[in-house]
Amino acid sequence: MRVLGIETSCDETGVAIYDNEAGLIANVLHSQVDVHAAYGGVVPELASRDHIARLIPLVDESFHQAGLVPGDVDGVAFTEGPGLIGALLVGCSVGRTLGLAWGKPSIGIHHLEGHLLAPLMEDESINFPFLALLVSGGHSQIIEARALGDYEIIGESLDDAAGEAFDKTAKLLGLPYPGGPELARLAERGDPKRFRFPRPMTDRPGLDMSFSGLKTFSLNTWRRELQQLENEVDSTADVPGSAQDGALEQLRADVARAFEEAVVDTLYIKCRRAIDARNPSTLVVAGGVGANLRLRDRLRSFEAKGVRVSYPSIGMCTDNGAMIAFAGCQRLMRGALDERRSFAARARWPIETLGHPNA
Ligand code: KG4
Ligand code: ZN
Repeated sequence: MRVLGIETSCDETGVAIYDNEAGLIANVLHSQVDVHAAYGGVVPELASRDHIARLIPLVDESFHQAGLVPGDVDGVAFTEGPGLIGALLVGCSVGRTLGLAWGKPSIGIHHLEGHLLAPLMEDESINFPFLALLVSGGHSQIIEARALGDYEIIGESLDDAAGEAFDKTAKLLGLPYPGGPELARLAERGDPKRFRFPRPMTDRPGLDMSFSGLKTFSLNTWRRELQQLENEVDSTADVPGSAQDGALEQLRADVARAFEEAVVDTLYIKCRRAIDARNPSTLVVAGGVGANLRLRDRLRSFEAKGVRVSYPSIGMCTDNGAMIAFAGCQRLMRGALDERRSFAARARWPIETLGHPNA
C-alpha cells in the first residue's frame, strides 16, 4: 500500500508518499515562516492562500522525488482537522479531488493522530498500547493509545497549549515568530538559577495542565526586571551602552530559561504521574514542542524506571505530510473506507471520537 499524504492545517504545506514496505519514499515541505513573520504570528487568510499556491507543485515534486506517477499510489490521505478552517479546506478539497480523479480511495486524517503515530513510522518496534505526550501549538495532552483510533485523553491543558505558551512568551520577549524554537535557542544562554517560575497545577493531584498563568508570570518578571535595569541605568549614566545591552540580553535569556525550565518540569511531573497511574512500557513524545531538546533530555530519565521513551526525529515532530501519509496508510490497510464524494474540514475534532477503522 502506497499513500500520498497532504498536510495543510496551519502554516506548513507538507506532502509525502509512504509505502508500507519501502517506508517514506517522498517528503517535501514548504514553511510559511516568511509569509507570517512580519505579523508576528500566523495570519489565517494568508496561510490559506499560500497553501493554494504551493500544494499542487509540492504534489508534483513528491512524485518526482519518489520516481513515481499518480497511477502508482493506492490512496490519498489529507488532514481533515483540527486546525485553521481555511487552511484545512485547501488540503481537503485537493486531496479528495485527486482521489476521485485518480479513481483511488481518499481519507480524511485527524492531525493529532498523525502526530501521535509519527514515532511509529521511524521505529517499528513500538506497539500499542503506549502512553503519549502530545505537545503542539494547539494541544497539550497525555493520551493512552490502546489501538489505532482508540485514544483516551487522560490529561490536558485547560487553557493555553505548551507550544502556544512558548510562542506568546517568545513574543513578549521580543523574539520573532515562530517563537518556540527561538526561545529555546535563547534559553541556552540563560542562567537557570536566576529565576524560578511556578510549576502550574503540580501542587494538587491530577494530570491536567495550565500554561497561561506561566506566560503572565513571565511577562510580570520581564517588566519588573526591565524597570529595575532602567532605574540602574539612570543612576549610573556613565556605564557604557554595550554593558547595558549585555545586561538586557542576559535578562532576556534568563527569563527564557526560567520559562522553559518551568514548562519542561511541569510536563515531566505530569508524565511521571501518568506513568505511575497507567504503568506503560513506552512513552511516545509527539508534536512540535517534542522538538525541544531540554524536554527530550528530561523525559529520557524515565528510561531508568524501565519505561522506553521514544521520540520522532526533529523534523517529524513539527507538522509534515509524512505523518499524514503514514496515518492514512495505517487506516486504509485496515480497510478504512471513506466513500463521501464531498469532504468535511473540521476546525475542532475531539481525538477520542475517532474510532478504529473497522469498528
Ligand atoms: O506540531 P506543530 O508543528 O504544529 C501544531 O500542530 O500546532 O507545533 C508547533 C509548536 C509551536 O508552538 C512551536 O513554537 C513549538 O511547536 N515548537 C517548539 C520547538 N519547536 C517547535 N517549542 C519549544 N521548543 C522547540 N524547539
Ligand atoms: Zn501539528
